[in-house]
Amino acid sequence: MQPDAAIHRTRRERVLNDMGDGVMVIATAPEVPRNRDTHYPYRHDSYFYWLTGFAEPEAVMVLVGGKAPRHVLFCREKNEEREIWDGFRYGPAAARETFAFDEAFAFDQLDAELPKLLENQPQLATIIGRDPAWDTRVMGWLNAVRAKARSGVRAPHLLADARVWLDEMRLIKDAHELALMRRAAEISTRAHGIAMRATRPGRHEYEIEAELLCAFRSGGAEAPAYNSIVASGANACVLHYVFNDKPLNDGELLLIDAAAEFRSYAADITRTFPVNGRFSAAQKDAYEVVLAAQTAAIAAVRPGNCWNDPHEAAVRVLTQGMVDLGLLAGDVDSLIESNAYNRFYMHRTGHWLGMDVHDAGEYKLGGEWRPLVPGMTLTVEPGLYIRPADDVPKALWNTGIRIEDDVAVTETGCEVLTSPPKTVAEIEAWMRG
Ligand code: GLY
Ligand code: MN
Ligand code: MN
Repeated sequence: MQPDAAIHRTRRERVLNDMGDGVMVIATAPEVPRNRDTHYPYRHDSYFYWLTGFAEPEAVMVLVGGKAPRHVLFCREKNEEREIWDGFRYGPAAARETFAFDEAFAFDQLDAELPKLLENQPQLATIIGRDPAWDTRVMGWLNAVRAKARSGVRAPHLLADARVWLDEMRLIKDAHELALMRRAAEISTRAHGIAMRATRPGRHEYEIEAELLCAFRSGGAEAPAYNSIVASGANACVLHYVFNDKPLNDGELLLIDAAAEFRSYAADITRTFPVNGRFSAAQKDAYEVVLAAQTAAIAAVRPGNCWNDPHEAAVRVLTQGMVDLGLLAGDVDSLIESNAYNRFYMHRTGHWLGMDVHDAGEYKLGGEWRPLVPGMTLTVEPGLYIRPADDVPKALWNTGIRIEDDVAVTETGCEVLTSPPKTVAEIEAWMRG
């Protein structure tokens, strides 16, 4: 048995415990063709992997609840020919043993076996409405059970979205997950340090992206956790800038939002720094506002506070900063009340972080922002985005600044997982080094 198999089995047992009677069916992600016989890099489904630790495509997990609970895996058969071309596959027998399942079947037995597992169960839980082909297949299995009604077999009469249980569990990270997230954060922190030192006028955004990707992979990460944003000058005001093709100019800021995925867990870091290694006075003033907003937001990440408290703390500091920088005029409370700050800060201050960069979990419970509790992991990422306009000080035109770190809620506050140079002094000293 794989060392981590017991962790995944325990998760499945918790799901069965919470769900009670019924059957949960979760498929992994399909392989996606890129063109002809070439595929996009494969990434398993996060729900499926969280429950199984099994990374091959063409696999389905079935948890059967009730008096005789069973953990069942459908996966690809061993295939000497395919393994010569594409590499190792476990096959059902070895997968059952290695990943701590009670039973395993070949993936092509799914349509034959799955209706049997649904017989006389009150409820079927799966992920509904994400993939139309999957929804159709699930209905086919239900109808196959219904077709046996005259022999006394009953089909599930309740259809539930499995995310009701899984999202809440994924939201609170266990020690195993936190250790992997720390590693993803360390690799990404190191990559930002390398990228910062590699930056200078005359290089290109893509060269800095290449430094990041090299550092992720050589650090043992399997992939970037999301498309890297390497945005200089005016490009930093484009929130999801992806072209990464512009030369880096003296006097500009460079915003890098990039991080690695390690053993299926994401980090998510943004740093903004001067291409030439020295902040101008105007850049420094704007940067200090964002940094103060982030400091205030991180201080608000603690048990007893709610999801929105860090955002509200950041918005207050940013809005005061916008007044101080001459971007807005008026009373800070009124500027917040009227959302006037949205002109320069149009996104929220964070999101859950985990296997997915924008991870699973509700933000409100019963209509209220949910309380923060230990084990939650989130980003804290305030920003300022200043486009040219007649009523904006010219020295700040085309300034985009975001500072993003990853934090885990602890019993007393939070642990900051990510740590590339961040203050003006730290960044300038690091770039000189
Ligand atoms: N990198 C995506 C985000 O910050 O949400
Ligand atoms: Mn983020
Ligand atoms: Mn980010």
